[in-house]
Amino acid sequence: MSESRSSFTGKLGFVLAAAGSAVGLGNIWRFPYLAAQYGGAIFLFVYVALAVTFGFTLLVAEIAIGRKTGLSAIGAFKKLDKRFSFVGWIAALVPMIILPYYSVIGGWVVKYFSGYVVGDGAKMASDGFFGGFISKTAEPLVWFGIFITLTAAVVILGVEKGIEKVSKVMMPVLVVVMLFIAIYTIATMDGSWDGVVYYLKPDFSKFSVMTVVAAMGQLFYSMSLAMGIMITFGSYMKKDISIEKSVHHIEIFDTGIAFLAGLMIIPAVFAFSAGGESEVALSGPGLMFETLPKVFNTMPGGSVIGALFFIMVFFAAITSSISLMETVVSIVCDKLGWKRLPASLAVFGVAFALGSVSALGFSVWSGVKPLGLSDILTFFDFISNNIIMPVVALLTSLFIAYFLKPKTIIEELEIGGGFKSKRLFCVMIKYVAPVFLVAILVSSVLNALGVVTI
Ligand code: PHE
Repeated sequence: MSESRSSFTGKLGFVLAAAGSAVGLGNIWRFPYLAAQYGGAIFLFVYVALAVTFGFTLLVAEIAIGRKTGLSAIGAFKKLDKRFSFVGWIAALVPMIILPYYSVIGGWVVKYFSGYVVGDGAKMASDGFFGGFISKTAEPLVWFGIFITLTAAVVILGVEKGIEKVSKVMMPVLVVVMLFIAIYTIATMDGSWDGVVYYLKPDFSKFSVMTVVAAMGQLFYSMSLAMGIMITFGSYMKKDISIEKSVHHIEIFDTGIAFLAGLMIIPAVFAFSAGGESEVALSGPGLMFETLPKVFNTMPGGSVIGALFFIMVFFAAITSSISLMETVVSIVCDKLGWKRLPASLAVFGVAFALGSVSALGFSVWSGVKPLGLSDILTFFDFISNNIIMPVVALLTSLFIAYFLKPKTIIEELEIGGGFKSKRLFCVMIKYVAPVFLVAILVSSVLNALGVVTI
């Protein structure tokens, strides 16, 4: 994304850029721990079912709005219907909430990468290492600072072209490394097979409303939906490219990597916890950082694989954090008329302050449990993914279904390449999506307030 409205050279350019934003910590860090927590295979199935219906519909809608108007979220909603510009504004809030805590986790990734480089593999595999690290005061702040400074540097210097080249190499390498780790774990570790079963064989008794709520939040997050990012990407897309096919490719990419990440982490959790599901249920945001170092520690050449893995995750994360920061910076430039450099520095400053609060939530502020959630980082994650994003998605679908009319979106898709699933799209956007989103919202609010526990 640059200041002038450049367009992607072709379909591959578009898909890769959108996938670069979509594939990130959400797939590798967030998906496996949610899957482990919300019933394994049942979560996976619900997620995939939602991805091909909801995810598809919302992704199509956002890209089409962007391409039709040639504008990013705030301008796009305003151009289509003045009364709905506020939706663009709410959407614009989301990246500002996500960027800071995303970068805190990005910092953990950098820490682990450097740990493997200096030969600390065995230390990082020891019990309690991760907990000890995040509960320090200064160190996590330093790693977070490094990650967010790198993100800001790229946004300021505008070297996204280079990043695109890096992603082309990185994505395939990431897939190969993850496959290797998964196969290694399953083939060599006792107890890991139970994890494969837990992950692939649905147990319907584990189904609850929270499975759906969590899967939906994950879907928004992972596909970079309901925050205006895909609208911006759509605005860069040429008219002769098929939106429908591109959406399928993005979905396959995104879901495929999340699936593999689960296959890599969940069996390992079982192997190290002797199959105890209660322990699986207890694992939260630290899952990736606690389990994988143990796997690497048992592997011959584990430090090399560990370093390679964490550098790949770093690239996946930074392409996403760049797209988050870029979105906020371009809004500040457009709306306040600021130049790129001061806008970037201001966004950096605010993000640094907010991110520090999340980072310190594991140390000095570990007693702060907003809404009864485990820590401040989880709180920011929860309000963006489970509250604000469903609100944006709900307003977007109501707007398209009953004000703009689905026909406008269908016409936009038919300009380049046609629209095979338009029936599905219409039914989803008019009836299923609104009803479902209201239900999701109500249950996650009630759950957060502790009125009901589902
Ligand atoms: N989709 C990214 C991920 O899975 C996170 C992200 C969200 C990136 C929103 C950009 C915008 O990690």
